[in-house]
Amino acid sequence: MKMETSIQGLSASLQTARSARKIIGFVPTMGNLHQGHLNLVREARNLCDVVVVSIFVNPIQFGPNEDFESYPRTLEQDSHLLAEAGCDVLFAPSVEQMYGQHQRLTNISVAQITNDLCGLQRPGHFDGVAVVVTKLFNMVQPNYAFFGQKDFQQLAVITQMVRDLNMPVEVIGVEITRAEDGLALSSRNAYLSEEQRKVAPNIYQNLKLAEQHLHQGEALVKVLADLRNALSEVGFEVDYVEARTPMLENVEQFDKDIVLFVAAKLGNTRLIDNLQLKYIQP
Ligand code: PAF
Repeated sequence: MKMETSIQGLSASLQTARSARKIIGFVPTMGNLHQGHLNLVREARNLCDVVVVSIFVNPIQFGPNEDFESYPRTLEQDSHLLAEAGCDVLFAPSVEQMYGQHQRLTNISVAQITNDLCGLQRPGHFDGVAVVVTKLFNMVQPNYAFFGQKDFQQLAVITQMVRDLNMPVEVIGVEITRAEDGLALSSRNAYLSEEQRKVAPNIYQNLKLAEQHLHQGEALVKVLADLRNALSEVGFEVDYVEARTPMLENVEQFDKDIVLFVAAKLGNTRLIDNLQLKYIQP
């Protein structure tokens, strides 16, 4: 595996692959890799000739009171994991390399679906994601790009942006990887205390319970309210419990495929999760 820290170095590393028309798969990450990321790399490995992974903690997608400074940076450990998982090129640029070359005047803003769910609590977050993902797509020029479904809204925003702007890349969403007790893997789980880690799987357990109640015919509004209460009772500070269609449209009832979304805090750690539900005609 090669590691590149400059845009020029990355281009040089990919030149042979590009001229041989190899299929390039790309996994953008912020590092501190876990099995969820490595599953994205495995999917890319299965589908593509060359696998590029980026590690870049993107300052412009963090709000002023968020964890940009303290976000775990574990490049050495990550690079070993990536080499084992079959990554060909690791791109790990500095903030200076990504944003310091000149003043940026262009923003990328996907309307509507970013003014909802996490977008309400994190103003500007999805613009920051859209900008860095576009820059990375232009640097790597991948055929396929892989994103986890844990960040379902992010995946929807990127899919929309790629479609709206005719970006020549196919976006692939990969299933959530969970710990044995159901907790969705996330780099932020590392912030949880031992006690909080025991409480955290309640999100998934209650999402599954909600699914069961919906299939038994309970009203969506009641199920969402029960889910919110159940999480508050075990110590979460709930940001939102919502249902949307997979395209993030509002839904009143479970009469089509829907996605249940949760964002909730344990102490200072904000966890998100979601569950996709198939509607089965009675
Ligand atoms: O999901 C992430 O880790 C980040 O939002 C991404 C897509 C790498 C952009 O910085």
